[in-house]
Amino acid sequence: MIREITSSDIAWANELLREFNCCVEDYKDNPFSHIIIYDNKGIVVYSKIYNRIEIEYIIVNNKYRNNGIGTKLLKYIIDNNDITNITLEVRESNNSAIKFYQHNGFKKVAIREKYYNNENGVLMIREFDNND
Ligand SMILES: CC(C)(COP(=O)(O)OP(=O)(O)OC[C@H]1O[C@@H](n2cnc3c(N)ncnc32)[C@H](O)[C@@H]1OP(=O)(O)O)[C@@H](O)C(=O)NCCC(=O)NCCS
Repeated sequence: MIREITSSDIAWANELLREFNCCVEDYKDNPFSHIIIYDNKGIVVYSKIYNRIEIEYIIVNNKYRNNGIGTKLLKYIIDNNDITNITLEVRESNNSAIKFYQHNGFKKVAIREKYYNNENGVLMIREFDNND
């Protein structure tokens, strides 16, 4: 089931977020931040600022990847927010994530040189005409 995170999810959620050196507590006091989970298998952390969303992280437990969970998490935030676009940054080497985002309608719009210390970031966007 897809829903907002609760305190009983924090332990397993932090296990997933550890891959990116962050944790639920980093976001709990930020009024723009939201965390949505799919059972205890996947998580999306995003910021909503007025009518646009920035995805911070989307992570599916590697045992459950390629089963459509990441796509369902994205669909949930699209269906539950009235937004004009979603943007994100992803490492240039993260081919599986780039393929995943392209599969879900995102386009590469810019390269951010050395965004991740020595590695370039790719800025991606999906735009909505509010009838999507
Ligand atoms: C990126 C990620 C969230 C995708 O989640 P997922 O649940 O496995 O993705 P889905 O099953 O919804 O995949 C949808 C489509 O994305 C593409 N895709 C997903 N994983 C892919 C991979 N490893 N290689 C190529 N394409 C891939 C495919 O087109 C797939 O459609 P298909 O199954 O019909 O071929 C997951 O791989 C993950 O957690 N990666 C590690 C964390 C990460 O790098 N997150 C992104 C940066 S924050």
